[in-house]
Parts: sequence; structure tokens; C-alpha cells
Amino acid sequence: MKIVVIQGPNLNMLGLREQNIYGPMKLDDIHAQMETYAKQSEIEVEFFQSNLEGEIVDKIQECVGEAQGIIINPAAYTHTSIAIRDAIKAVQIPTVEVHISNIYAREEFRHKSMIAPVCAGQITGFGPFSYHLAMVSMIQILSEIKAMQEAQNKQQASQQ
Ligand code: DQA
Repeated sequence: MKIVVIQGPNLNMLGLREQNIYGPMKLDDIHAQMETYAKQSEIEVEFFQSNLEGEIVDKIQECVGEAQGIIINPAAYTHTSIAIRDAIKAVQIPTVEVHISNIYAREEFRHKSMIAPVCAGQITGFGPFSYHLAMVSMIQILSEIKAMQEAQNKQQASQQ
């Protein structure tokens, strides 16, 4: 099983960027923690960061046949990108949206997520720990899908 973690614009600046909002942790350190946790469930993780909307759309499309789950922090594109929303809807891969800050406690323009309606769920406001919660949620979703598929296979086999 593979999960792709997609990070949007300016998240490569974590550790430098607005530390009062995003804290001192760097993106690589967040990724290292996620990978350690995923390994315990024998899940492979790929990390991708881009400041470009089209590259994020390309990466989501490339997940078809490659990944069983997507964790995405679309950053500022959360609030504007119909293209990223359409890509998530198109690939039909379970997706968890994640934010470090609580987008609902900030400026009004951050209260609207274009992405949330096409995701399994949204995690927002727990600092870098949001990514851990997103990973826990994604692994839970994947294990539920696996259990459902196994039950279906068993039922089909018993009907033959
Ligand atoms: C963010 C919230 C967005 O509003 C903002 O544009 C970001 C980061 C977060 O993780 O809290 O770049 O997605």
C-alpha cells in the first residue's frame, strides 16, 4: 500500500515562515515523523511539494494505479483551486485534506475550502501534529476499504 503526501505552495518554507502561525518545525522533519509512523503499518509513503498549481494537478493524476491514498495540504490553493478539486474528484482515490493552522480561526478568505467537499475529511489546526492525525485517518480509511473488499470476496466465493 502506498500513500502520497502532497504539499502546496510555501510549505517548503516551514521553519522560516510565520513561525507564530506555523511553528518552528521544518517540512523534512514532519515528513520523517510521518514516514516512521507509516512504516509501522507497512505502508510506503511518497512526499511531493510544489509551488505550482499545475504540478500539483499532475501529481494527483499520476497517483492513479500508483497510490491507494492521498494526504494533501493544498496551502493557499485550498481557497482558490477548482483545478485541484477536480483532479481529486477525477482520480477517485481517498484523500485527506490537512492544515497546520486552524483555517476557520483566521482571515475570512481562509474559511472556504474548495477541496474539502471532495475529500474523505479535513484536519485543521493542530500544528504539525495535524499531519500525524491525517496519516492515522488515512491508514484507518485504507484498513476499512481492505476489510470491505475482503468481505465482498468472501461473499462472492461462497456464492460460487
Ligand atoms: C495552510 C493554511 C492556508 O490558508 C495557507 O495559505 C497555507 C497553509 C495551513 O497548513 O495552515 O499556506 O494550508
